[in-house]
Amino acid sequence: MTAQEVEPFGRTADGKDVGLYTLANANGVVVKITNYGGILTHLFVPDREGNLADVVLGYDSLDDYLRDSPYFGAIVGRYGNRIARGRFVLDGVEYTLAANNGANHLHGGLKGFDKVVWTAEPFATDDAAGLRLTYVSADGEEGYPGQLSVTVTYALTNDNELRIDYRAETDKPTVVNLTHHSYFNLAGHDSGDILEHELALAASRFTPVDPGLIPTGELRSTVSTPMDFGKATAIGARIDEADEQLRFGGGYDHNFVLDEYDGSLRIAAQVYEPTSGRVMEIYTTEPGIQFYSGNFLDGSNVGKGGAPYDHRAGFCLETQHFPDSPNKPQFPSTVLRPGERFESTTVYRFSVR
Ligand code: BGC
Repeated sequence: MTAQEVEPFGRTADGKDVGLYTLANANGVVVKITNYGGILTHLFVPDREGNLADVVLGYDSLDDYLRDSPYFGAIVGRYGNRIARGRFVLDGVEYTLAANNGANHLHGGLKGFDKVVWTAEPFATDDAAGLRLTYVSADGEEGYPGQLSVTVTYALTNDNELRIDYRAETDKPTVVNLTHHSYFNLAGHDSGDILEHELALAASRFTPVDPGLIPTGELRSTVSTPMDFGKATAIGARIDEADEQLRFGGGYDHNFVLDEYDGSLRIAAQVYEPTSGRVMEIYTTEPGIQFYSGNFLDGSNVGKGGAPYDHRAGFCLETQHFPDSPNKPQFPSTVLRPGERFESTTVYRFSVR
């Protein structure tokens, strides 16, 4: 059986009360989500001995999230990752977005979907406990055209899967690229760096970037480069190699082009943590996945239980369309038009080895 409960989590600066929702499954897996930013705050999964650990970075209180968060556990939108110079042209009209990352636009702007209060509705089915989050983004919000109605559904199943379904509709042509920004550490959120985690990606190409982390437009082979995760490889094995792409990212901060993309739910990544035996597989309907090795963490974010999140204390694997697609006609399109429905699904599946 699955269970849910809700407790108060605090109040935003503009006086909105937000809750913390707990989902639990039959195997002891527990997920906590707040409707502020749709943030996944906790995720307890068993190791090979059956001991639970919380494998996502995050904070104990809403105030910490309000003060400063590098998108810990959040829903990211309207556009995950960067849009060059915060500009794009759609149907002959140029739109200007906030430049909140140097000269570029990042993760939806100054007040993206990670910083808004969503309407939350818990639900249960025979096999899952879930939380449905809805938000209506006004026409022009953060510079994006069209009123966008968004539903993001988290569901925890008895197969130890956390499934996220994204849906959106617009009343004017716009661009959309929704993702989820958990920082994982499968040894436990407070257990040091993630360099020993072994990562495999179903990607034989990636989108190389310029020094501002904007894709050049090329789809480049990973073969014979530190970007090759075709066979499971420790994240730290090559991260300090003298490689221009690693230098630009300060480590891994790249979009990988998923092989054989056809819009169906396919395996994108597998991560194994040797000391705990925990395995996380990621399945997605998206064409890309951003692998970010937590390079900008520097201990200044003090997390749950007072854990300082030092350099590379967590990694993100963000399923997505490619960064800067609105300015790259050769990339899969992120345009959404009235009458169409944006649909995207990502599943995180936990097991042990
Ligand atoms: C980006 C990083 C960024 C991080 C958090 C990731 O998705 O790729 O460049 O620093 O999010 O802000």
